[in-house]
Amino acid sequence: MASAHVQVFPWPLQGHINSMLHFAAGLLDAGLHVTFVHTEHNLRRAHRAEAVATPRLRFVSLPDGLPVDHPRSVGDLTDLSKSLMTTGPAAYRALLASALSPAADGGFPALSCVLADGLLPFAIDVAEELGVPALAFRTASACSFLAYLSVPRLVELGEVPIPVGADLDEPVRSVPGMEDFLRRRDLPNSCRRRAETDDVDPLLQILVGYTAHSRKARALIFNTAASLERSALAHIAPHMRDVFAIGPLHAVSAAPAPATSLWREDDGCMAWLDGQADRSVVYVSLGSLAVISLEQFTEFLSGLVGSGYAFLWVLRPDMVGASQSAVLQEAVGAAGKGKARVVDWAPQRDVLRHRAVGCFLTHAGWNSTLEGITEGVPLVCWPFFADQHINSRFVGAVWGTGLDMKDVCERAVVEGMVRRAMESGQLRMSAQALSQKVRRDIAEGGSSATEFQRLIGFIKEFGK
Ligand code: UDX
Repeated sequence: MASAHVQVFPWPLQGHINSMLHFAAGLLDAGLHVTFVHTEHNLRRAHRAEAVATPRLRFVSLPDGLPVDHPRSVGDLTDLSKSLMTTGPAAYRALLASALSPAADGGFPALSCVLADGLLPFAIDVAEELGVPALAFRTASACSFLAYLSVPRLVELGEVPIPVGADLDEPVRSVPGMEDFLRRRDLPNSCRRRAETDDVDPLLQILVGYTAHSRKARALIFNTAASLERSALAHIAPHMRDVFAIGPLHAVSAAPAPATSLWREDDGCMAWLDGQADRSVVYVSLGSLAVISLEQFTEFLSGLVGSGYAFLWVLRPDMVGASQSAVLQEAVGAAGKGKARVVDWAPQRDVLRHRAVGCFLTHAGWNSTLEGITEGVPLVCWPFFADQHINSRFVGAVWGTGLDMKDVCERAVVEGMVRRAMESGQLRMSAQALSQKVRRDIAEGGSSATEFQRLIGFIKEFGK
């Protein structure tokens, strides 16, 4: 039988591209063919992407609808979102239609299915309209998906939107399975009113709509593991046509990970880590989208310096308001007194695997959370937005593998939490134990590995 061929289409942001490229690597390992869809802008940025195109993997692109010189600032995704939602359906229809023409196969088998980001509902609709089965892939946690799925009920009960000035520590009892530990502050932060007069945040409405839309897909796939989110997955399953939990994908593929970075990685920090003692360094990264104020930068810096530990800090050039990143990097160097290293972008998975890293100060983006968990590194979480608020609650209150610093950015708190994460035997033991569980999930016979095999069978059925 000819190999199955899957088209993989992520939202054009780093966190989404990473997990979906890891998924593509898993499909390649299983002998399938993969066409990976980038935007034209990202394909130009995806350093080394061409180098990893293989006989069964190819990259194609479609316009994102913005002018070439648009800044596509991560601080404001409004233009990109609007543009994708308005111009995306037609551009994608054209791309998919041409992929379906017999002349387009380039030695690839006929397309078996499309696997689209759950935040691109139009791709699921267009694929099905053109007769191609569509599956949805959510790059965020299952717990955050369940929270979005529960929002209509929370609105009905008057719990959302959360009023300005409300006690954010009040429990939320209407997200199934989370009654014992979820607080208002742990819901996606778009559940909070920003002003008295605000209605439900439009971003929340959009995400709730996309979440419900996943029911239309033939199946919903999560980059998570049963040992992390068994309960959330069980509560989601009755609402979807089928659900697969197959992660953490970055740790699954036997082949070298495909190049995924939209920024140039600074590998020099690995040699710097080599020169540090075991578990003596704090790794600090707030992911690909978070933007912080100069004041928050100063609080983080003072807290890190105050902790007394060496630190490696990813300061993306677009991360601190309009400030000059070179000036900030210098400020870190001066304050760190030889114990600080700053990079624009790090090879994060290698960094987290390094024996010198003692804890990870993270924004709790789902990829970063999974990468930290897999390596058994204690986390200090400072969630920035969206799913990160609930992820960090799971880290602090459910898995017990780190500390949740949400809604606070003060030097004394940063210093105290970093010290605890570096020094607590209990946190490290819990982190290591969870890492073992997750590794068992992805090993042969484990829940994620078994689900992945079931998914491959599911996809191959489309080709028959
Ligand atoms: C956001 C969300 O919070 C996330 O949960 C969602 O699924 C996608 O969008 P983002 O800010 O990109 O994510 O964070 P995260 O999901 O953690 O992804 C960042 C990725 O960039 C990780 O895979 C990380 O390894 C990588 N990274 C980060 C680097 O390779 N180098 C760096 O210096 C920093």
